[in-house]
Amino acid sequence: MSDGGDLFDEYAVAYEAALSNAIAPSGEGREYFAEGRVAWLSGCLAAHVEKPRALLDFGCGDGTTTPLLLAVLHADSAIGIDVSAKSLAIARKNHASPRIRFESIDEFQTAGKIDLAYCNGVFHHIAPANRAEALALVSRALRTGGLFSFWENNPWSLATRYVMSRCAFDRDAITLTPPEARRLLRAGGFEILRTDFRFIFPRVLRALRKIEDLVYRLPFGTQYQILCRKIR
Ligand SMILES: C[S@@+](CC[C@H](N)C(=O)[O-])C[C@H]1O[C@@H](n2cnc3c(N)ncnc32)[C@H](O)[C@@H]1O
Repeated sequence: MSDGGDLFDEYAVAYEAALSNAIAPSGEGREYFAEGRVAWLSGCLAAHVEKPRALLDFGCGDGTTTPLLLAVLHADSAIGIDVSAKSLAIARKNHASPRIRFESIDEFQTAGKIDLAYCNGVFHHIAPANRAEALALVSRALRTGGLFSFWENNPWSLATRYVMSRCAFDRDAITLTPPEARRLLRAGGFEILRTDFRFIFPRVLRALRKIEDLVYRLPFGTQYQILCRKIR
């Protein structure tokens, strides 16, 4: 496990191809999952009166999800941060706009101003001993009461394990079970609001996907979201 940007610098250009190859058995492209995550998050926020205006995409990689978050959540601004300089260069080239900026972890200075942080598939690339520190960075960026949409791959799903075993850049991954992730988040000063499991059926069984909206509390999905709030 590198914990620096080395692994994702190595894969910055090939990231898209490596990911597409790994998730091919699902019959879907990466957009399907990114759009599904952001749409689900948006639905979760419907219950919250206060809408997030300033967003953080922690471990944004090539920045593909950052503009999606901004658009779907109708926010004012978004910052994508990552440890991989090469991924950030691609993100800036493809997605920078007056309302989006991409920064390295070292450049990032925004303290207490973020309303909502999002991350997907980042913490399984951070060594367990360094996760609390990474979470503290997210926490410092958030205002008290700010939300964190924490997405991870579900190690209880055989489909997840299969896809990760096919993924070249997951060779260093150490997955987090939902209870492990909740413990980490609670210890980091977050109150858990909900845990949801998404993405059960591959495209070939898409007629069954309506069921996913009924069983999202059961641990069948290949990914899960823990939505939590910074309380200290
Ligand atoms: C699997 S990619 C996911 C990228 C993006 N979140 C997405 O959904 O497309 C994991 C990303 O986490 C980043 N990463 C790994 N360790 C990190 C850390 N300690 N802090 C911030 N980002 C990190 C990697 O550089 C990589 O871009």
